[in-house]
Amino acid sequence: MMEWDSDSDISNNSGLDDEEVSSSINGLGFMLSGGVGGALPFPVDNLLHPAPCGFVVTDALEPDHPIIYVNSVFEMVTGYHAEEVLGRNCRFLQCRGPYAKRRHPMVDSTVVAEIRRCIEEGVEFQGELLNFRKDGFPLMNRLRMTPIFGDDETITHIIGIQVFTEAKIDPVLLQGHSVKESLRLSDKFFSPTPCDLRLDLNRGVNRGFCGLLYLSEEVVSLKILSLLCPRDIASVSSVCRKLYELTKNEDLWRMVCQNEWGSETTRILETVPGAKRLGWSRLARELTTLEAAAWRKLTVGGAVEPSRCNFSACAVGNRVVLFGGEGVNMQPMNDTFVLDLSSSSPEWQHVKVSSPPPGRWGHTLSCVNGSNLVLFGGCGRQGLLNDVFLLDLDAKHPTWREISSLAPPLPRSWHSSCTLDGTKLIVSGGCADSGVLLSDTFQLDLSMEKPIWREIPVAWSPPSRLGHTLSVYGGRKILMFGGLAKSGPLRFRSSDVFTMDLSEEEPCWRSVTGSGMPGAGNPGGVAPPPRLDHVAVSLPGGRILVFGGSVAGLHSASQLYILDPTEEKPTWRILNVPGRPPRFAWGHSTCVVGGTRAVVLGGQTGDEWMLSEIHELSLASFII
Ligand SMILES: Cc1cc2nc3c(=O)[nH]c(=O)nc-3n(C[C@H](O)[C@H](O)[C@H](O)COP(=O)(O)O)c2cc1C
Repeated sequence: MMEWDSDSDISNNSGLDDEEVSSSINGLGFMLSGGVGGALPFPVDNLLHPAPCGFVVTDALEPDHPIIYVNSVFEMVTGYHAEEVLGRNCRFLQCRGPYAKRRHPMVDSTVVAEIRRCIEEGVEFQGELLNFRKDGFPLMNRLRMTPIFGDDETITHIIGIQVFTEAKIDPVLLQGHSVKESLRLSDKFFSPTPCDLRLDLNRGVNRGFCGLLYLSEEVVSLKILSLLCPRDIASVSSVCRKLYELTKNEDLWRMVCQNEWGSETTRILETVPGAKRLGWSRLARELTTLEAAAWRKLTVGGAVEPSRCNFSACAVGNRVVLFGGEGVNMQPMNDTFVLDLSSSSPEWQHVKVSSPPPGRWGHTLSCVNGSNLVLFGGCGRQGLLNDVFLLDLDAKHPTWREISSLAPPLPRSWHSSCTLDGTKLIVSGGCADSGVLLSDTFQLDLSMEKPIWREIPVAWSPPSRLGHTLSVYGGRKILMFGGLAKSGPLRFRSSDVFTMDLSEEEPCWRSVTGSGMPGAGNPGGVAPPPRLDHVAVSLPGGRILVFGGSVAGLHSASQLYILDPTEEKPTWRILNVPGRPPRFAWGHSTCVVGGTRAVVLGGQTGDEWMLSEIHELSLASFII
């Protein structure tokens, strides 16, 4: 077992001058202003001595070499905290800040290819490449990578030592990309205003320079910047002081958040107490980097009685609604409870609702049209169900109303559902009579007066399954993950990921592949162990967070995994967040409240289902 000491990371034992060792940039970074060219400033045997360098260790036995250790110099210089980077591949340093999705075009791809070759061949690498601090500031990284061999001569780890220096790049070129030769040492870094952007009055336009900032602030802000997304605004703000000032505007950030997340999410976020205090720019950053994500435990008042399991819950604004479940002696329940999380002391309240649907468990409850809940399927006293009920929670006298929809799907339980466009219920898979697993996907448009079920016709479906999750991302795309899936005569827990774009004329299921290896049918990275009955949370911007569920063996189901299906090569990452996750991670019911809090209800303790203690994964700091 290797142990890495990070306490004395920044002491200067490297044999360099003090002056050479550190310079502070913007009061944030601790950097080496290294000499020009040459080898690294210390021999390999200095590896075990504390040195003022970035120091990372990756696990070479896991796919895509996830980081398992970073020292504090790495954290200080790059601005990324350990918990943000553990489990990820180091290549994120080649992207300009946490908002960027792709390697910056000025990063020399021949150096990256050489790194790849050295890793593949298991040899040491030494070289220099452009990296970026979390705030987008460019860094030169003199990188040395050394493989560590285990007893059987396989490479078990790779150590990376980074000497970061300021990369003096003209900020205009940094924005303007492409030309590698433009990576030059210049005397002037980050000119405070684009003073040399002079307009050629005769021709209106000065070739090579841009007169954008001669436009009025209103035009730049409202007509140009407001069309961008948070990631772009973060880049634009680092161009010059004027753009920095312009991009501090909260109204502008609201618009860019809306561009990125859609008006529904933005509207919901507006109703979250405390979101205003945090501000849109901070919210955009926190929800993108997840730097403030934390688990916390809430004790709530009231009671959900009689006690039960296998209920279904869903969020309506800041309220959590729970319906039905399985009581003692497999009694199907049909009562409705509400927990208002915006209250200072939230408590479960039994809601008196007229004409309740027949009792059931293994059903789904989803939110449509603002304050309406839609209930579908499950297992009742008489067996499996395929009925649909609607409840307007904000009605004066809340009443469950059966929707007599045409051409319903087969009765089922343990299926999965989600809501599209706020009005359409999507249902997939589940378990039909005699335990047959299903693989179909149905849609019910609840905005119609007489809703009609429509099976989404597809040429190919993922193997039939139950206990999987369906999540919506990017507006009208759905992502299916995990479940108990059929494989020939057998059933296995799955960690497969499939997506379907429902805005396409002929939607089709696609297997998400991230590794680029021929035949590889799953995203790259550290994939969550196969599971069913888990929780999947869609984050603003399209990422999906997975945790919990029934997982085989010794794996911890509480570990959080994150996937961005919109990436070119989607890659699973482990997300380490502080706080205590729920201890019993199976049989949960979860909902996302206000777009920023994933609330986990219940979870089996062995003999009791806890509903007075709920766990919450808060994604932004204002919650705490
Ligand atoms: C131990 C280790 C440390 C690394 N450190 C860095 C680094 O500091 N900056 C960087 O840009 N890439 C770093 N890399 C390289 C990237 O992780 C990745 O291997 C490289 O970008 C090539 O792979 P790709 O083409 O799949 O991105 C490191 C790799 C390893 C194994």
